[in-house]
Amino acid sequence: MKHPKRRKLKTLALLLCVVTFTTFLFSYTLRQPSSYFFKYAFRLAGSFKGPCACQQCMTEADDDPWFTERFNQSVHPLMTRENSALSDETYKWWQWLQSEKRPANFSEVVEELFRIIPDDALYADAGPERCRTCAVVGNSGNLKGSQYGGLIDSSHFIIRMNQAPTAGFEEDVGARTTHHLMYPESARDLDNATSLVLIPFKTLDLQWIISALTTGKIKHTYVPVMSRIEANKNKVLIYNPTFFKYVYDSWLEGHGRYPSTGFLSLLFAIHICDQVSVFGFGADQNGNWHHYWEENLLGGAFRYTGVHDGDFESNVTHFLADKHKIRMFNGR
Ligand SMILES: *[C@@H]1O[C@H](CO)[C@@H](O)[C@H](O)[C@H]1NC(C)=O
Ligand SMILES: *[C@@H]1O[C@H](CO)[C@@H](O)[C@H](O)[C@H]1NC(C)=O
Ligand SMILES: *[C@@H]1O[C@H](CO)[C@@H](O)[C@H](O)[C@H]1NC(C)=O
Ligand SMILES: *[C@@H]1O[C@H](CO)[C@@H](O)[C@H](O)[C@H]1NC(C)=O
Repeated sequence: MKHPKRRKLKTLALLLCVVTFTTFLFSYTLRQPSSYFFKYAFRLAGSFKGPCACQQCMTEADDDPWFTERFNQSVHPLMTRENSALSDETYKWWQWLQSEKRPANFSEVVEELFRIIPDDALYADAGPERCRTCAVVGNSGNLKGSQYGGLIDSSHFIIRMNQAPTAGFEEDVGARTTHHLMYPESARDLDNATSLVLIPFKTLDLQWIISALTTGKIKHTYVPVMSRIEANKNKVLIYNPTFFKYVYDSWLEGHGRYPSTGFLSLLFAIHICDQVSVFGFGADQNGNWHHYWEENLLGGAFRYTGVHDGDFESNVTHFLADKHKIRMFNGR
């Protein structure tokens, strides 16, 4: 006599096969609108290899046109010697952002820069074996009391921007930071394990990072800036101006003067990660815009800065969430 338990198992396995097969058929006949669900179920069942090793990947074979029209994998977010040359159009646009008066020779500055920081082509390793999860952590007051710290810290990459203190806020914002995006005027010291990702708005910003890591002679851009910075030189990365312009043209369709640091960080993550979770973007539950480390006194800390189109950025961000490209965590 057969073991009844084993028989039960066999029946269960058969049933599973049938269900999997029918869902497989259905996923072809009923591709839209439920393909997301089926794809997810398959990856979960381990019966299908995706373009990455996560259950949902940044790029999928059946991406919808809204995404594919905007996303261009061949524009690299980080600068290397090789991709550092800017087209005339990009250089003009980029220098126009902060209208530097007498910029130094860009290619000479880049050459000097890569004598100090590494010149590695990082993160261009997307493929079926990789599942890189990322948390992009904005600075919104909606993080207060959110208890997202554990969730944020469980990601492979944790991307923060500008001041973003963690000490004293760990329960809500997490403790780890792998990448910290900043520009000279928003700079802060970092620990040795964190990559400083400089967003340059002018040639002087590249000269500033060289100086801040070495001699400390640059103390002023258009405002006083930190003359020296504590950061691991071997982990300093440069946001590529070509990518900066691509974000503005392709994703913001020219809205605002230029993208906010938050939006630039989001697109950085979309290009180097397989799964992106977004925290601390947008207003708090009362519609107030302030930083999580500040009391909400004035109400409008970073929405109406005049140079960013917050409404359009938020629209695109919500589209990305609707298309399952990012997951939004809206806090309390
Ligand atoms: C993507 O970017 C590359 C490199 O900048 C460019 O040559 C190409 O035309 C772009 N593709 C699309 C579809 O815009
Ligand atoms: C910048 O320097 C490079 C290399 O020294 C040189 O070939 C180029 O002509 C210079 N560009 C300008 C605009 O002076
Ligand atoms: C920081 O990390 C680098 C390697 O990336 C190492 O060479 C250096 O000794 C570290 N410094 C400190 C203070 O831990
Ligand atoms: C939001 O984005 C969609 C898609 O890009 C666009 O059609 C729509 O006009 C945008 N709305 C606003 C208010 O910007």
